[in-house]
Amino acid sequence: MKNEDFSPIKWINGTVELIDQTLLPFKEKWIKITTYPEMINAISNMQIRGAPAIGIAGAYGLALGAIEISKTKKLKSAQKFLSELNLISLKLINSRPTGSNLKWAIDRMMNIANTIEEIPLITSSLIKEAKKIHIEDIKSNHNIGKLGAALINKNSKILTHCNAGALATGGYGTALGVIKSANNEGKISKVYSTETRPLLQGSRLTIWELINSNIKAYSIPDSVAGYLMQKKEIDAIIVGADRITANGDVANKIGTYTLAILAKSHNVNFYVAAPTSTIDIKLNNGSEIPIEERPREEVTNIKNIKIVQDNVTIYNPAFDVTPNTLIKSIITEKGVIYPPYTLNIKKIFGGNNE
Ligand code: MRU
Repeated sequence: MKNEDFSPIKWINGTVELIDQTLLPFKEKWIKITTYPEMINAISNMQIRGAPAIGIAGAYGLALGAIEISKTKKLKSAQKFLSELNLISLKLINSRPTGSNLKWAIDRMMNIANTIEEIPLITSSLIKEAKKIHIEDIKSNHNIGKLGAALINKNSKILTHCNAGALATGGYGTALGVIKSANNEGKISKVYSTETRPLLQGSRLTIWELINSNIKAYSIPDSVAGYLMQKKEIDAIIVGADRITANGDVANKIGTYTLAILAKSHNVNFYVAAPTSTIDIKLNNGSEIPIEERPREEVTNIKNIKIVQDNVTIYNPAFDVTPNTLIKSIITEKGVIYPPYTLNIKKIFGGNNE
C-alpha cells in the first residue's frame, strides 16, 4: 500500500471488493461481496471496519440489495420495490450500532430511492449515490488532513488510538489523514500507536499504514500511554470518532476516554478528527449513544489461542464516550470546531438541526 489514496473497498461491475482487515497485516486478501447479507456479515465480522468505511460499505450493500430485488423478485410496482429495499436498509443499519456514518449513508441512499418511480432507475441511482458517498469521503479526509495539519507544531510526537486511517474510511483517513498531512509538511517527529486491545487495530492496521507512509512509528501496549505523557513524550493526541453528538461528546474505540483523561492531567492537546457525516445532531449528548458489546471470544482468545479460562465472565464494550470538556477541537472537512460545541456544531450545519 504505497498509494496515499488507497481505499479498502471498491465497486467493480456490480460487485464489491474489500480488503479483509481481520487478516492484516500478514495477509493482504481481497474478498468479493455479491449480496447484501454478505455485506452485513463483512461489517459485523469487522472484515470492513471504521465508521466512515462502514457507511460506504452500507451504501454499496444497499445498492447490491437493489440489484438482488430486481433479479429475484420481478416486482412491477416501485412502491413494492421500495418497501423491500426499506427492509434491507434496516438490516444493514443494525449490522453495527455505534457508528453514525452507517445510518447516515443508508438514509441518504433511501432518500434518493424514495423520489424515483422507475425500478431500473432506482437501482442505477443507488449505485451512483454510493460511489458519490465514497468519493466525497476521500475528499473530506484530505480537507480534514489539511486543516488538522495546521494545528500541529513542528517536530511533534503524536499518539493515536485504534485505526482512523485509509482502512477505516473511503481512503486517506481522518486522524491518520491529519498525521499524514502534517508529516508531508515535515512536522512529525514520531507517532505512537496504541495496540488497541482486544482486536489490535493499532498494532495490526495503524502501524501497517504508518510504515507504508514512511512515518516513524512505535507500537505500544495500551497501558504505556500514561507513562509516555508523564515523560513529556507526547505533544498531541489525535483520534477518530464513531459518533459525535450535538454537544460535542465523542464515541470512539474503547480506551479513548482513558487517553483523554490522561491528556487533561498532563496538559496534552486532545484532538478528534471526523467528517460531519459522523456528527449525529439528533442526539443531545453521549449518554444517548448505543454502545456495541462484542463477542467474549475477542477477549478470551488471540486468534485461535485461548488466554482466558472458559468459566470467566467477560465484558467487552467496543466503544466509550469522551465528554466534550476533554476535547481541544473537532477537525471536520468543513472547518475546525472549538468549544462551545453545541453552538459551533449547530453553526457548521448552517444552524439547521435536521
Ligand atoms: O471497532 P472499529 O475498529 O470499527 O472501531 C473503529 C474506531 O473506533 C475508529 O477510531 C473510528 O471508527 C474512526 S475511523 C475514521
